Parts: sequence; structure tokens; C-alpha cells
Amino acid sequence: MAQFPAVRMRRLRHNPTIRRLVQETHLTLNDLILPLFIHHGRGVKNPISSMPGHYQISCDYLAEEIEEIMRLGISAVILFGIPEHKDALGSGSLQETGIIQQAIKTIKALNSELLVIADVCLCEYTDHGHCGVIHERNSIKDLNNDATLELLAQQAISFACAGADVIAPSGNIDGMVAAIRTALDQEDFAHIPIMSYAVKYASALYGPFREAAQGAPKFGHRSTYQMDPANGQEALREVALDLEEGADMLMVKPGSSYSDIIYRCKQAFPGVPMAAYHVSGEFAMIKAAAANGWLDEKKVVLEVLTGLKRAGADLIINYHCKDVAKWLGK
Ligand code: PBG
Ligand code: ZN
Repeated sequence: MAQFPAVRMRRLRHNPTIRRLVQETHLTLNDLILPLFIHHGRGVKNPISSMPGHYQISCDYLAEEIEEIMRLGISAVILFGIPEHKDALGSGSLQETGIIQQAIKTIKALNSELLVIADVCLCEYTDHGHCGVIHERNSIKDLNNDATLELLAQQAISFACAGADVIAPSGNIDGMVAAIRTALDQEDFAHIPIMSYAVKYASALYGPFREAAQGAPKFGHRSTYQMDPANGQEALREVALDLEEGADMLMVKPGSSYSDIIYRCKQAFPGVPMAAYHVSGEFAMIKAAAANGWLDEKKVVLEVLTGLKRAGADLIINYHCKDVAKWLGK
């Protein structure tokens, strides 16, 4: 291989124009998905203290919210619900009048081209805050995997009936993709894609989200269903399984600390769209440092999100969307 002084890497770095010319990774607005938290009732716009700039909003605020989102050029949202009533089975999420069903219908009635992704899980709707049905075995409470599948399938159907464009199961329950795919196909929703949270770690970085969505577990933790952050090989099994079950898109979550996982999953299945979830804790850390003047928020956000793309993410769910849209321009 040619060497210095024949080779000088700095030749392609001399000015902004040549640097742009050789730039490998481009972050665009088409890559970004904005999470929204929909609260029951009317006239609700509650600031989420650990997530500056984000609110729990009721459906009557959706028209202005969507108008802003469209004006900024953001093309997709993912919805999370804060229901009026919770119970052991999360049955509020299965009703036609459920909070997410209402939100989807409200957005769809606006006739925008916005892509509406419905997160499918039970933790926001169960009184115990776990992502599925709880049963007791040897006096230890745990998630009943197979009893949960039927509820997830019903929830997915209900969101699809309301008009969801994409179904995104986030519980990390074994068999969830197959159960949802089978149900969607039976109900004439064969055209609706599934974006599976295939690789979801039991991370401490979900803290602010649990305030936002009010879905923290009331006892125990999620480590019997979410993955151990120490494991990498296991992620490849998770994505392979979800693909076999019929997932159209995959996700790794959180983002920054798991970019090796994003890379490995993308290498293993290059043709499958790969999403990364830059989660609430990652957002909050940047916001807090920026508020203290310790980091340049714009530069850091663009660097971090571009880094996720470079690692192999085609799509990034993140809370910086509106700012990024302003920075990138339409
Ligand atoms: C719950 C769910 C979580 C997130 C998305 N869906 C949190 C959890 O497992 O408690 C986290 C997102 C974030 O932190 O931004 N199924
Ligand atoms: Zn959940």
C-alpha cells in the first residue's frame, strides 16, 4: 500500500466543500421517527420534566402538533399512550375507544402523509406496569409469555383497525412477531409491516420514558424478558428469530452504547431495514449537559445520530427530531 509522503489523508480535508464531497454518511429527515405521548382526556399538555421540550398531550392538541411536525418535514411518528384506566391485563389498550386508537383516528382524519407507527406493548396499560400478563410460579411473580401473545395480537389488530401504518411490538416477548403477523394476516392486514424491537436491552436509560409514559414496573424489573446489556451474540439470535417470524424491519435499543450491535445485526442481514432507538435517557443526558453549557447541543446531536447511521441504522427513533429538522432544513 502507498505510504506517506505519497499519501496524505489531509488532502481531502482541506476545505468544507471537499469535505462534503467525500462525506460517507448523511443524516436526513427521512431517517427520523418522532415519539409522541398521548394522554387521555382533553386540554392536557403536561411537560415531561426529564425530557425538556416533550409533553403528554391529549388528542385535541394533535391537530396543531401534526401541523408543526409536517411543516418541519418529519415524516413518521411512533405513538405511546397514557390511558385513563389500567388493569391487570391492560384491557384498555384493546378497546376501540382506547387512547391510541383515538389518536390514530385523529391523525388519520387530518389526511396528512405522516406515517403512524403504533408501539404495541402492555406496560402502559397494566396496573403492575409489566409488558405482559403476570402469573406466579413457586411464589415468584413473572411474565406469562404465551398468555401475553394473544393480547398483543389483539392490540395490534385494534391499532390496525384504527388506521396504524406500521405495528411495532416492543415487549421482547418470545413469539410476539409470529403471533402478531398471523393475526394481522387473518384480519386482512397482510399489507401492514411489522417493525420489531428485536434487540431490546434491559437498560437503565429508559428512566425518563417511564415518567413520560407512566409505565414503570410496580415490582421487580424487566430482565426476565429484556436482554442483558452484556450480551452481543444473543442479539443475532433475536434478529434471526424475528425475521423468521415475519418482521419487516428490526430495531436495536438503546442506540449509542449499542452501536456494535447495530453494526453486527446490519452486517448479518444487510437487506433488512434496521432502526436504532436513541432512547429517553440518551436524550436527557445531552439536554442536561447542554443546559449547563457543557456541550454544544447541535453539534453533539448531529454527531451522535450520524454515528448511529454510520454503524448501520437506516432509521432512528429519537427525541431530538424537531431540532434536527430545524438544523437540517427541509
Ligand atoms: C416499553 C417501552 C420502553 C421504551 C419504549 N417502549 C421502556 C421500557 O421498557 O420500560 C423506552 C423508550 C425510551 O426510553 O425512550 N415497552
Ligand atoms: Zn412494555
